[in-house]
Amino acid sequence: MRRMRRLRAPGIREMVAETQLSLKDMIQPIFVDERISLPKAIEAMPGQFRQSLESLEVEAGLLEDLGVPAVLLFGLPAQKDEVGLGAYDPEGVIQRAVRRIKETCNLIVITDLCLCEYTSHGHCGLIRGETVLNDETLPILGKIASSHAEAGADIIAPSGMMDHMVRAIRTALDLDEYTDTPILSYAAKYASTFYGPFREAAESGFAFGDRKGYQMNPANAAEALWEVQLDIEEGADMVMVKPAMPYLDILRMVKDMFGVPTAAYQVSGEYSMIVAAAERGWLNEEAAFLEALTCIKRAGADMIITYWAKEYATKINNEELRMIP
Ligand code: PBG
Repeated sequence: MRRMRRLRAPGIREMVAETQLSLKDMIQPIFVDERISLPKAIEAMPGQFRQSLESLEVEAGLLEDLGVPAVLLFGLPAQKDEVGLGAYDPEGVIQRAVRRIKETCNLIVITDLCLCEYTSHGHCGLIRGETVLNDETLPILGKIASSHAEAGADIIAPSGMMDHMVRAIRTALDLDEYTDTPILSYAAKYASTFYGPFREAAESGFAFGDRKGYQMNPANAAEALWEVQLDIEEGADMVMVKPAMPYLDILRMVKDMFGVPTAAYQVSGEYSMIVAAAERGWLNEEAAFLEALTCIKRAGADMIITYWAKEYATKINNEELRMIP
């Protein structure tokens, strides 16, 4: 008689596991704030900090020593304006941050490319009245991309969900001879409430409206495939589904349909929910992250952007962690 439990005995269970998490797939987001000199705790994301340009070097070195392969950088500039000039200033926070990391270590540096941290209104594009302008924003995204590549970014990750942003960025990079710099497009990015804690982390709350006019409707799946297809046609080398856990169906479809390197972003709200529940004693933090991350990988993610990457690496290094949940 077939007994499924035979393969669930300790040891055998691990041998037949279909999915293995690996530190090699993980990407740690880092917030760099040029106004501070010491790391500053992010209240809505316990355990996460904004780094200063100085502390960033220490943090990057630590991550490299722990074996985290890559970081995703977000910048908090000293000044914001209507049109987000700071986003492509050669002495801007991200440009300086990238140079510092690349001078001191070998981490793969991915830069988030968006206007929302640099505009006074907090939207991801230029505005007229309360409308976010798509086509007028595109040349600026191209300029930002080239300035990131110039600073030494290894991968450019546009997150603004402007139509044709990938083409604009690829064109600008190629013109400036950054033909070998890959684009990781936030292709299927939903207008999600799970970005809540990020607004504190990156101070990117918006002055009016919402992002529903340019980010995707959580009710839609077929549209995600369309978005991904367009980005691939425009030159995206890798694509992303974001958030991760409520969107595992999308992740699976994208991976099956296109077969391109696919990243999933376990976003701020997904992180903080687990940490907050664990703080109350309602969940085991480590077990919850292991399960969530394993399921994200099982659903098709080749890479996972997670705020827990450093913690995972620390536990692996201390051999505290079982690889399989
Ligand atoms: C900027 C951006 C956001 C996130 C990543 N890039 C916020 C947003 O689109 O509103 C969210 C990441 C997270 O919640 O961890 N466009």
